Parts: sequence; C-alpha cells; structure tokens
Amino acid sequence: MKAVVFHGLGDIGLDEVAEPVIEEPADAIVRITTAAICGTDLHFIRGTVPGMKPGKILGHEGVGVVEEVGSQVHNLAPGDRVVISAVLGCGSCSFCREGHFAQCDNINPYGPRSGTGSPGSPEQQGPFNGLQAEYARVPSAHTNLFRLPDSVSDAQAIPLADIYPTGYFGAVIADVSDGKVATVWGCGPVGQFAIRSAFERGAARVIAVDGHADRLEYAQAAGAEVINFNEVDPVDAIMDLTLGIGADCAIDAVGVDSESAKSGPAAKQARGQDKMHRDEVREIARKSNEQDGHWKPGDAPSQAQSWAIESLAKMGTLGIVGVYPMADRFFPIGTVLGRNLTVKAGNGNHPRYIPKLLSMVESGVVNPEEVLTQQEPLDDALAAYREFDLRSPGWLKVALEPATT
Ligand SMILES: NC(=O)c1ccc[n+]([C@@H]2O[C@H](COP(=O)([O-])OP(=O)(O)OC[C@H]3O[C@@H](n4cnc5c(N)ncnc54)[C@H](O)[C@@H]3O)[C@@H](O)[C@H]2O)c1
Ligand SMILES: [Zn+2]
Ligand SMILES: [Zn+2]
Repeated sequence: MKAVVFHGLGDIGLDEVAEPVIEEPADAIVRITTAAICGTDLHFIRGTVPGMKPGKILGHEGVGVVEEVGSQVHNLAPGDRVVISAVLGCGSCSFCREGHFAQCDNINPYGPRSGTGSPGSPEQQGPFNGLQAEYARVPSAHTNLFRLPDSVSDAQAIPLADIYPTGYFGAVIADVSDGKVATVWGCGPVGQFAIRSAFERGAARVIAVDGHADRLEYAQAAGAEVINFNEVDPVDAIMDLTLGIGADCAIDAVGVDSESAKSGPAAKQARGQDKMHRDEVREIARKSNEQDGHWKPGDAPSQAQSWAIESLAKMGTLGIVGVYPMADRFFPIGTVLGRNLTVKAGNGNHPRYIPKLLSMVESGVVNPEEVLTQQEPLDDALAAYREFDLRSPGWLKVALEPATT
C-alpha cells in the first residue's frame, strides 16, 4: 500500500509499504478514507519534537472503514465507518477510567511513563504506524474507534480525530467558563477549535492572536476579536481591550515552532530578545534539516507562552495544548509565580470528548468542515505537506484521501 513515510529530518516520502495485520486481539484494521496533516507532524519533520524513527508511517488523524477486528473487539464490525482517536488509550487502566486517556498506563508498550500513545509519532509514544496510508492497525479498537452516523461526512469527521478534541481540551484546562475573557494563541487548525470551544464553554469574549491574516479571518468569522502580532504588540493590545486587567484564561495553541514578530512594534522587542531565542532554538532543535525555507524550526520557542502569560489577569489560567518536547526548559515561570497564575498542559484526552463533540456535529450545532480548506489525493501528499509547512495563504487544514476503492 501507499503511505507517507518519515525518512529523516526534512525528508519524507510517499512509499510502497506492507499492509498492516491484526497483531493483538483488541486490534482493528481500518481502511483509511480520509487522513489529515497536523501541525504536530511539522514539529517532527522540522526536528523541534525529536524521536521519529526512520521508516515510520506519519499521521495520527484518520477516518475510515473497519476491515477486520480482533477477537476482543465486540462493539464494531467490518463495514462500520469510524473516526480514529489520535490519542490512544487502553480503556481499562485507572487513568483511562478517570478519563485521562493521554496518560494511559498500558497502551504504550514502552511503559507507563514513556509517553502518550499516538500513531505516527516519535518512538517514545509507541511503535504505532501512522494513518497517512491506505490501511492502519488501531490498538484497543473498542476504546479508540468511534462509529460515525451516515449523516456525518468524512470532511466533518476528520477534525474529530484530533484538532477539535484538542481545542476543546485547551478550553477545559484553561478553565474557560461563563462570562470569562479568553485569549487563544495561534489560529491554526487547533486554535480555530480552541476559539469555538471557548465560546461553547461560555466565554463572553475570545481574543485570538496570530501573525497570518488569512488565519485571523477564520478566527473572526467564529466570533473572536483578532490581533495580528505583526501589526500591534499583542500584550499591549489585550491589556487595552480589557481595561488593563488582562484575560482570565489563555490557551496556547502554537507550540514549540512559535515565531517572533517580524514587523510592527513587537518586532522591536523581538530584536532585543534575539539572542535568547536563538539559544532556545539551538538547544531545542539540536538537529534540523532546513531546505529552501522548508522545515524551518520556529525562531522563538517561548514567544507564545510568554505573551500568553504576560497578558493574563492576576490569578488567571494558562492551558497549553501546543506541543513542546519533553526536554524543553524555557518557560516564563517568574511571572507565573508573581501573579499567582495556574498553568495546565497536556495531550488531549480525546476518547473522553469525541462522543460529545460528535453529537454536536451530528446535530448541526457545529460544522467542523469549515476549517478544512484542502482535500488532496494521498498521491499529492508531499506537495501538500510543503504548502502546510509554509502556512501558505489559504492552507489552513489539509485532508488527504487515499485512492483505494
Ligand atoms: N496537545 C495535543 O493533544 C495536541 C494535539 C494536536 C495538535 N497539538 C499542537 O497544537 C499546536 C497547533 O497545531 P496546528 O495544527 O494548529 O499547527 P499550525 O502550525 O498550523 O498552527 C500554529 C499557529 O500558530 C501561529 N503562531 C506562531 N507563532 C505564534 C505566536 N508567537 N503567537 C501566536 N501565534 C503564533 C502560526 O502562525 C500558526 O497559525 C501544535 O503545537 C500541535 O503540535 C497538540
Ligand atoms: Zn493532529
Ligand atoms: Zn489505559
């Protein structure tokens, strides 16, 4: 079968690989009808989140049709259309039972403290091949596959695999509730769902920040007040918009490939922090393989976090869903202490939220398809990756469609 395979930093290929088979009794084999490219995949290829093993299939977002189930899968049958949770749980350990699927004790064969189980991810997150392929093996299928009604299309379902539950989790851990003022840092696909989820959880105002005008337009269409950090200083703007008090809640939907301002008043400040940021990049992305402007690590890993922290009200809460590597130690802890802030972070507990979010999609309360801007054949995956890596205008979220029949 065809699959997008990680060869090395800055080097991926569309390769012919072996089809997966059932390995464990709780496995299912899914024929992928739609996969997607995620900002997380970019961290792996840029080298800012290390540990991908050459030869591994990329991708953790998928929708498909169950082909075969193991003897311990009693809730699904071949022919069922499903969305695959990007975060895998075993469904039986104490963490899964409490809804903390991202901290499952069993799903990752490398051990309970190795990392959140996820397909197509760095090896410490488990040996699971990814979903940018024609077929995939899904472990603990009873817990990680969710049957889709016919009324929900693949384009509506693919955001439920990762970006919607992640955005929702961001709003949960940032303590967004009725009447709150929330900021969302990053208006990529995850940020878009963080904005929508903050409103769903009752936020009175959502202020969204990015440096790309086209992404800010999507944020504004969802009801956010938008700030372009290449035009104004985002911290000053948020303080002005909130009578000098700041936001109650902040969601970091940027992660380690954070950028500094390249123009406007914040660019001046960035020049003063240039050396600090260069040191951060050097330590975080010890290896990278930038080519012709592609696969370039973000130039200011702690920038989004420091703006988010700086613009919080006293006693405010920061929820971090943007991904940072385990070794990252650049965090503005002093301001957190000085203003009695709360910081929560993590990989989303997707199996906990997918059923609820799916029912909102099914009932028409939310149409997640509006964030999906591209649907490309799997054959064109490499070109699509390159556009998404550059955040080219209009390339907000890319779905890939294997051409199997
Ligand atoms: N925790 C989880 O479970 C989970 C799941 C999925 C994705 N993620 C992470 O969420 C993050 C976002 O994912 P995505 O697919 O939307 O990625 P993306 O790269 O498409 O989006 C990131 C956005 O942040 C913007 N940005 C860069 N620097 C900024 C700054 N200083 N301030 C504000 N905005 C800035 C970029 O312009 C871009 O629009 C990534 O780190 C990804 O790995 C986490
Ligand atoms: Zn993802
Ligand atoms: Zn578990």
